[in-house]
Amino acid sequence: MGAMQEWLAQAAEDRQSTGIIRRAESAPSGSVEPLDLASYDYLGLAADSRLHAAAIATIKSVGTGARASRVVTGTVAAHVELERELCSLTAQPAALVFSSGYTANLGVLTALGSSDTLFLTDQHIHASLIDGARLARGSVQIFPHADLGALERALAARTMKRAIVVVESIYSVFGDAADLAATAALCAKYDALLVVDEAHGIGVAGAGRGGVHAAGLAGADHVVMTATMSKALGAQGGAVLGSPVLREHLVNTARTMIFDTGLAPASAAAAAEACRIIANEPQLVAAVERNAGIIAEVCGIERSDGAVQSIPLRSPEAAVRVTAALRESGVLVGCFRPPSVPDGISRIRITASAALDPPQALRAARLIASAVASDSAHA
Ligand SMILES: Cc1ncc(COP(=O)(O)O)c(C=O)c1O
Repeated sequence: MGAMQEWLAQAAEDRQSTGIIRRAESAPSGSVEPLDLASYDYLGLAADSRLHAAAIATIKSVGTGARASRVVTGTVAAHVELERELCSLTAQPAALVFSSGYTANLGVLTALGSSDTLFLTDQHIHASLIDGARLARGSVQIFPHADLGALERALAARTMKRAIVVVESIYSVFGDAADLAATAALCAKYDALLVVDEAHGIGVAGAGRGGVHAAGLAGADHVVMTATMSKALGAQGGAVLGSPVLREHLVNTARTMIFDTGLAPASAAAAAEACRIIANEPQLVAAVERNAGIIAEVCGIERSDGAVQSIPLRSPEAAVRVTAALRESGVLVGCFRPPSVPDGISRIRITASAALDPPQALRAARLIASAVASDSAHA
């Protein structure tokens, strides 16, 4: 075996011993469609025929790929349309669409940060934000999750010229919401910029318009919003929203904008259609709330602020067992174990998708409650 193969085999053995093996495989297709409470398609829009029609029409008119970076010839009408729809949904003055939420976060943090910047990052933020802050070459300080006292102390003690605070509006594992109004007020007091990732907020929080909008911060000078089209919007792609001058800065300096091929036009068209649906169909967003309520009540857990809720389990093995048992019963849930859980506690993660009608949500919730109870009974 060559040195590289030996090293990879050793790494695989180490992973095996920790019990954390990730797989990128499609789910086996069975005769019964499972109830999907594991995906991020919060509104069920990935299966919506209106999104499909928008994507297909765009493919027919401009083709399947953007063919080039957006700053060369890769900007198409669908990108412009998506930016307009995002601004209209969130009441932000300007938007810039990236190829994914990941590249949007890398792009904005690296373009705004420098060696003179202190990044103050909430302990629970997503990997893309952590990577963006690290790549920006400033200094990174993590504050305990949602601890505004700790954030204020760090802001008050700062010696670097600029500060950027990074949070999410709704956190993905626990579904809890950040106090955006209070965080933005602290940022204003200490002359810091606030970057809010709305990956799990857009389409869900604030009647679907997001947490920044709900907090009355849309268009605020010192607040920047990022989003992904891959969750509630049922498509693919990412965006940064804020002032026109910010957009111009990103077009000229964000490396993941300049050196990345533009978002596939069909995804942009589908996401634009999703924005229109969210704005016009409040009952869709309300269905998430309804299903989350059913799940929380039946499972005896506290209702979270977002579309996701989680049930802690006593070990990583228990999380795997409960997830597998539920899959057998036709219910898909997410299985979260260290190191993918911010607090080190294994859990199943349940999405209250609007695609479930009330009887389906009730059936899934009962199966989940019973799988969790029967696993604990066999402890
Ligand atoms: C909070 C958060 N930000 C960003 C991303 C990345 O988005 P995308 O999947 O569009 O790259 C995710 C996706 O998991 C996320 O949960």
